[in-house]
Amino acid sequence: MNREQLSAIAHAHHPIKAPLDDESVRLLLDKSLPRGDERMLDLGCGTGEWLLRALATRPGVHAEGVDVSAEALAQAGEAASSRGLRERLVLHDQDAAEFASPEPFDLVLSVGAAHAFGGLLPTLAAARKHLAPGGRVLVGDGFWECTPTPEAIEILGDFDDLATTVDRVAAEGWTPVHGHVSTRQELDAYEWACWGDLAGWALDHPDDPDAAEALATADTRRAEWLHGYRDTFGFVTLVLRRSAHDRT
Ligand SMILES: C[S@@+](CC[C@H](N)C(=O)[O-])C[C@H]1O[C@@H](n2cnc3c(N)ncnc32)[C@H](O)[C@@H]1O
Repeated sequence: MNREQLSAIAHAHHPIKAPLDDESVRLLLDKSLPRGDERMLDLGCGTGEWLLRALATRPGVHAEGVDVSAEALAQAGEAASSRGLRERLVLHDQDAAEFASPEPFDLVLSVGAAHAFGGLLPTLAAARKHLAPGGRVLVGDGFWECTPTPEAIEILGDFDDLATTVDRVAAEGWTPVHGHVSTRQELDAYEWACWGDLAGWALDHPDDPDAAEALATADTRRAEWLHGYRDTFGFVTLVLRRSAHDRT
């Protein structure tokens, strides 16, 4: 079973691949798309769930998504077709760091994909290149609630604490106009959805040649979460505009 297949099973009931519930996603999109006729870009869009939700609720929005997973993009395209949204969605199968567009975007979104750029600040620098004057960025990334164990850093990579994270973003000329810190309920729900669904699939398919691997992966990842980072990992999603002295 490859990584994409595991991911598809693990996210079957949590299509947003980040610790955010449906109401938080709805509110973040409301704050990011105030007009309803924006051009939006998602760098690391996965199965396109953010884009699909924005398109479904705003008939004037046009969206583009970039991801390196052909499987995830195919799923995004199929979902868009079945929901009648396909003609307003363009999907690009390529490295988000190399994506270029002749037209800028009113909203550049990147949630849970900062590793594609080497961290949060490089993600913002990449987003800025695509941003129309006066546009917004919606970005979601991890932070440490408290001092992480070496094991947590090994599993997730390193982050700053929340205040330092936001200070560093602001120092790069961004003003947060909205933010959401994932609740313990959202963080736990996401992990249980991923590793519970994967384990459940293995138990439901005992004769599948991939069942043992799926169950072992679910066990490992659940243990990494509970023993390694549940008490230290946080997730923040920010809606950003360029600060007054720099509106580009
Ligand atoms: C945790 S998922 C988040 C997906 C989506 N943003 C969401 O919130 O549902 C991270 C995504 O980043 C994509 N990704 C990783 N490296 C990438 C790269 N260099 N360029 C584009 N996408 C990348 C992965 O394929 C995956 O779909």
